[in-house]
Amino acid sequence: MEWFELSGGMPLHGSITLQGSKNAALPLLAGAILHRGKTTLYHVPDIRDISVMIQILQKMGCRVHKEGSTLQIDAACADTPCVDAFLGEQMRSSIILMGALLGRFQKAVLPFPGGCVIGVRPIDLHVTSMQKLGAVLREEDGMLCAKTEGLCGNRIHLRFPSVGATENIILAAVCAKGVTELENGAKEPEIVELCRFLRGKGAKISGIGTSCLRIEGVERLRDSSYTLMPDRIVAGTYLFAAAATRGQICLCGARPQDMMEVLHILKKMGAEFRYIDEKLWMDGRNAYYPVDYVCTDTYPGFPTDLQSQLLAALCVAEGKSRVRESIFEERFRIAPQLNRMGAHVTVDGREAIVEGCGHLKGADVRAEELRGGAALVVAGLAAKGTTRVYGRTFIERGYEDIAGDLGKLGAVISKG
Ligand code: UD1
Repeated sequence: MEWFELSGGMPLHGSITLQGSKNAALPLLAGAILHRGKTTLYHVPDIRDISVMIQILQKMGCRVHKEGSTLQIDAACADTPCVDAFLGEQMRSSIILMGALLGRFQKAVLPFPGGCVIGVRPIDLHVTSMQKLGAVLREEDGMLCAKTEGLCGNRIHLRFPSVGATENIILAAVCAKGVTELENGAKEPEIVELCRFLRGKGAKISGIGTSCLRIEGVERLRDSSYTLMPDRIVAGTYLFAAAATRGQICLCGARPQDMMEVLHILKKMGAEFRYIDEKLWMDGRNAYYPVDYVCTDTYPGFPTDLQSQLLAALCVAEGKSRVRESIFEERFRIAPQLNRMGAHVTVDGREAIVEGCGHLKGADVRAEELRGGAALVVAGLAAKGTTRVYGRTFIERGYEDIAGDLGKLGAVISKG
């Protein structure tokens, strides 16, 4: 099994430029299918989930040209609504192709989604929303088949503001007949990104950035280009790494307005920030305070995708912290791995108590999913001695070059 090896215990120091956002790029790639023409995307991260999505589009007949972080997609020749089962199963985000394919072909055939093992992850909100827009869904030969005689706008109230379901609704509604009014939709920055991207293609969307969106269907979209936002989860990971090592780092291209709650928690831990000329500077030399209580929440709350990295940093704080997970029930699977490194984490249902002891020791640990894996890297950076994090490929699903980035910040990290 592939690994990262770290010699930890040294403060991170230096400056790096952030990669583009994975979670923003994936729905935009799905959006490209909706349009019988060209889409250019800049600042696309070079990671596995993106290359799987590109392969899915290519199998559908799209022409994709990649040069560095620029992607040119020509979806004019796309000729099938079927998502390759083998590719689609590899990531949960393949479900967001449903709305786009229904919009383009009035049909979608896709495998039930895979992805990280962090909880039950049902798709009921996706299914009921597509039904509300006029699709009929059934299971056929183990695949999810959706069909419509023509999507029609409707009023949809989500019982929970699911990110993926909101994306599916937006993608299905932009070319549907009439108006769709979405209530209690997700308002994560990545959703804002999707709306802005689609507006650039001629879609009519208002209420962007709020939980209520109004989408007026248009007959056709146009060619467009779009530059993706920086990855706020990657940014947060490096900030928690800097806190855990009491380092001083600068993130070029960061957008602090998308991560206010994360910065708030880091400040509580003792970190200080400056933001000048699109550069976010963090001084984590005094980031050793525990945090009474943090609960993950939908945006603008503390993101579930940074909960594990926070947990790792709190293991080396000096005192007791309490962390609650409200989105994905199995995010605490890394607790035994952290404890193997000398941490004191006790999990009780959806809550973890961390008795921060100021230090960790290197050990062999195993990543089972993307963000938990990144958290083990954070712990390894803070730990004295050598840490080997097995399951490198899980981590590489979301981080373009985590070893390169941390190396630039002075970490001793290798992979094999
Ligand atoms: C997206 C992100 C993921 C992040 C998550 C929450 C991408 C590619 N992934 O995942 O990194 O952790 O948002 O911010 O953008 N739910 C249902 N029924 C559904 C759909 C979801 O009950 O039909 C529940 C889930 O079980 C979970 C919660 O809603 O408890 C959040 O899921 P959702 O917001 O849909 O997350 P994803 O879109 O899968």
